[in-house]
Amino acid sequence: MSSESAETTSAETTSAETADATAPRPIAKELTMGELSSRSGVAPSALRFYEREGLIRSSRTSGNQRRYRRDTLRRVAVIRTAQNVGLSLNAIREAFATLPEGRTPTREDWARLASSWQPELETRINRLVVLQQRLTECIGCGCLSLTHCLLSNPNDVLGRQGPGARRLF
Ligand code: FES
Repeated sequence: MSSESAETTSAETTSAETADATAPRPIAKELTMGELSSRSGVAPSALRFYEREGLIRSSRTSGNQRRYRRDTLRRVAVIRTAQNVGLSLNAIREAFATLPEGRTPTREDWARLASSWQPELETRINRLVVLQQRLTECIGCGCLSLTHCLLSNPNDVLGRQGPGARRLF
């Protein structure tokens, strides 16, 4: 082989490799733990926790590695958003249980789920407004009464837990 033909072959190979590198990669149907973590911005430890809590699901490869359906990305985003507005994992789990099994939830499914949280969010907002209004008074008062102070015992939560002291355990 002459040096010219060797250079041509080398140039063709390089060109072919460049073309392969820029070619669009097929979209994987499932995500690895690392992909889900980097795409969602949620640490793998938190994703494993969500899975233990039944909020997301994975399948396993023959090598026992987790694989997540692509719509898990939206589930994780919804979980984070719901947590940011103060919803409990239980509330999130119950809402997720209303999503359809065996198919990717639609926009309407997600909208229905969000609507189901409206009453709880309104209750929380109203409670915060009352607390905001009472804050100045309470800071001046300082009694932290369990019977009428909305800061120390909002909505008499402790009273509903039963008689006697509730904060000594
Ligand atoms: S601290 Fe007295 S009413 Fe809240």
